[in-house]
Amino acid sequence: MLQGKCVVLGVTGGIAVYKAVELLRLMIKAGADVHVIMTRSAQEFVTPLTFQTLSGNPVHTELFNLIQEQDIGHISLADSADLVLIAPATANFVGKVANGIADDLLSTTVMATKAKVLFVPAMNTNMWENPLYRQNQKHLEELGYHFVEPVYGELACGWQGQGKMPDPQVVFNSAHALIGSKDFAGKTLLVTAGPTREEIDPVRFLSNYSSGKMGFAIARASRDRGARVILVSGPVHLADPKGVETIHVTSAQEMYREVTEKASEADVVIKAAAVADFRPVERGEQKTKKGDTETMAIALQRNPDILAELGKQKGSRVLVGFAAETEKLLRHAREKLQKKNLDILVANDVTQDGAGFDGETNIVRFLTADGQTEELPLMTKDEVAEKLLDRILTLLPKD
Ligand code: C5P
Repeated sequence: MLQGKCVVLGVTGGIAVYKAVELLRLMIKAGADVHVIMTRSAQEFVTPLTFQTLSGNPVHTELFNLIQEQDIGHISLADSADLVLIAPATANFVGKVANGIADDLLSTTVMATKAKVLFVPAMNTNMWENPLYRQNQKHLEELGYHFVEPVYGELACGWQGQGKMPDPQVVFNSAHALIGSKDFAGKTLLVTAGPTREEIDPVRFLSNYSSGKMGFAIARASRDRGARVILVSGPVHLADPKGVETIHVTSAQEMYREVTEKASEADVVIKAAAVADFRPVERGEQKTKKGDTETMAIALQRNPDILAELGKQKGSRVLVGFAAETEKLLRHAREKLQKKNLDILVANDVTQDGAGFDGETNIVRFLTADGQTEELPLMTKDEVAEKLLDRILTLLPKD
């Protein structure tokens, strides 16, 4: 997906340098030709040899290197790059570039390049919030430089807050969105995510543990690969992905209405939502009183099976379902694939460590209508999303 692309990976000196190693690995796996430039302080954290071995290219560290100067090292790297990716980017480095300083190989390369530049800042929360830093980033963004926002978490300095470098896969996806192949261009993908809530009364509901992370990862990956994406999401604690048409729903019936209405626009429908199968027959107008009884029964009625309905009028649309199982995974999954008339069913045993609802990772198998099963190892939900899209691509008509 990054075949034929030249990436200059600039590594500056922060504790997150170790994540740049994994990022490099992802870039290489995707087919990019990566040339690493390290600042002096970055070399205090990881040796150039690590990056050199993984990239298969010499690591550049010095602005004035007699051997490389025959083709003016910094200019040739700046010229041949499709992307200059600075990860991690320290407050100092962002400040330098924002003020036009080019006093080492990396800052000179950034100054000399006409390629896209993506900064991945990682720093202490107070530095991240410092108005000086904020001003520098804003200034660079206004000039067309790109940034991946750091995430919240425990920082190396012991602080809790925003400033952590995101997962290498998230950074990779942002880089890919800038220069990667747009193999879903012209396609519309309808993705559902999260749980549904079935109200019992104004203050109580039936629901499940779905976090929406899997569906959101698919929506982001599809967008980055050039698709128009419609995301129909149940209640989740995730920010709407930029550039994705996000529709919020609460109940299964609302999701049914939105999905059936939008499905006609979609080439692919991916139902990652954990839709409640039943809803209370009656929703109390007022909060239900506990009274004196020891037990209480709530009568439930079936919700429409959205995916099964779409399967009935499938046409040329590619239909993908998810099945979270706690037993007899393959048998149940294969039954579902057939019953709902799906092309792909993503099955996961939610009892396994690293699989299922709220985590960052998943362990899945792809079952396809032609009877094949592909078993994937433990991977992040972003990686699962990429693999799923690769699979879907093989089922789409070639334009
Ligand atoms: O049968 P089961 O609920 O396990 O199937 C899961 C798949 O079916 C998921 O893709 C889910 O989004 C979809 N589904 C649906 N409508 C329902 C129940 C499940 O679309 N009412």
